[in-house]
Amino acid sequence: MQFDIKDKSLARSGIARIEWADRFMPVLRSIRERFGREKPLKGIRVAACLHVTTETANLMRTLKAGGAEIRVCASNPLSTQDDSAASLVKDFGIATFAIKGEDKKTYYAHINAALDMNPHITMDDGADLVSTLHTSRRSQLENVLGGTEETTTGVIRLKSMEMDGVLEYPIIAVNNANTKHLFDNRYGTGQSSIDGILRATNILIAGTTFVVCGYGMCGRGTAARARGAGANVVICEVDPLRALEAVMDGYRVMPVQEAARIGDVFVTVTGDTHVLRAEHFKVMKGGAIVCNSGHFNVEIDIPALRKMSKKVKKAREFVECFQLRDGREINLLADGRLVNLAAAEGHPASVMDMSFANQALCAEHMAKNHKKLEKKVYDVPEKIDRWIAKLKLDTMGVKIDRLTKEQERYLSSWSLGT
Ligand SMILES: NC(=O)c1ccc[n+]([C@@H]2O[C@H](COP(=O)([O-])OP(=O)(O)OC[C@H]3O[C@@H](n4cnc5c(N)ncnc54)[C@H](O)[C@@H]3O)[C@@H](O)[C@H]2O)c1
Repeated sequence: MQFDIKDKSLARSGIARIEWADRFMPVLRSIRERFGREKPLKGIRVAACLHVTTETANLMRTLKAGGAEIRVCASNPLSTQDDSAASLVKDFGIATFAIKGEDKKTYYAHINAALDMNPHITMDDGADLVSTLHTSRRSQLENVLGGTEETTTGVIRLKSMEMDGVLEYPIIAVNNANTKHLFDNRYGTGQSSIDGILRATNILIAGTTFVVCGYGMCGRGTAARARGAGANVVICEVDPLRALEAVMDGYRVMPVQEAARIGDVFVTVTGDTHVLRAEHFKVMKGGAIVCNSGHFNVEIDIPALRKMSKKVKKAREFVECFQLRDGREINLLADGRLVNLAAAEGHPASVMDMSFANQALCAEHMAKNHKKLEKKVYDVPEKIDRWIAKLKLDTMGVKIDRLTKEQERYLSSWSLGT
């Protein structure tokens, strides 16, 4: 078995943490048990490009239990947990290509190593497998049955491929499942982004002016958790509906240029580029902390910040202090990469339980139904989404009401009124 990881001897810590995460992933575990009996992925080769974490390890175990042959690589150069990668190789026999802090060349070498297996199914977080297959490895496209995509940014890339008529195989947008983006993006990114900021800086959030750029699912979660920790939260948006929602949720809303003058901490979660740039750095307070939790490290214009600085020094692990010519300092966390994954451990397992249950079931759905699907981006089938919600509630011991026959009739009839 081929692999490229930091150090196999880290597996002992990896397996302990993977098993700990598994305790909080009952939905995925129940799928793993069924997959073990039914082997729905027998003979299917899956290339996965995901954050290589304990939760991802449990997803890989599940696919393997289902009979799949797997190769996994990192979807971000900084998000790999080296001990999880070691355990994937040593304890679970899964070909893994991921090293925390890998450079761009190694990152793409790892993507190519995963694709060397000639996959039937691609499982992406950010669409890097899909884009590599569609550019430099086109001859392999004919073997691919379909794919899945984990995140908002990847879905946006894939939809634009579909619109341009260049997408060569069907993809299920796992991100769009309600049991994914309403929970993982909001509660997962919300909590873990704050966790990343705290681990990197150890600041007191209470009393700070905390600026969140982007009020999508991730932004809502991050803003709510920052407010819960006592911050004065400011939201910056470009969409009037989202901005209005933020106002009604009780936040101050203003353009980034105004927020830049008053913020102590800035988090970008937009999926957009250069949201924080030179004109904003020019007016920021000395000591401001800037970080990103959106998918790519382009939300903060780091080259511009570098250009404005006379010196850059490492202040702490994951904190680079940019000393500007006028004497102010701006602190950048985690190189502008996903702060929750780079400086902390990503989302808690119990929320990834639902996201990865979607991944596993969508891989099964793709294996069974690919012949019926066109070269399009599909939403997760509603049946899968509702099944996951129901099972998650069951595992939490939460019971809910059922419609009575009378209510069913009432809700499906147009003739019954007052
Ligand atoms: N850190 C993580 O673990 C994690 C988890 C899930 C998603 N993501 C990523 O986070 C990003 C956001 O995801 P989401 O699901 O919240 O997306 P979303 O589309 O729901 O929200 C993004 C918001 O940003 C706003 N926006 C766009 N450009 C802006 C700008 N220049 N200034 C201010 N606001 C702007 C949009 O109007 C939108 O409301 C994506 O890149 C996604 O892939 C990260």
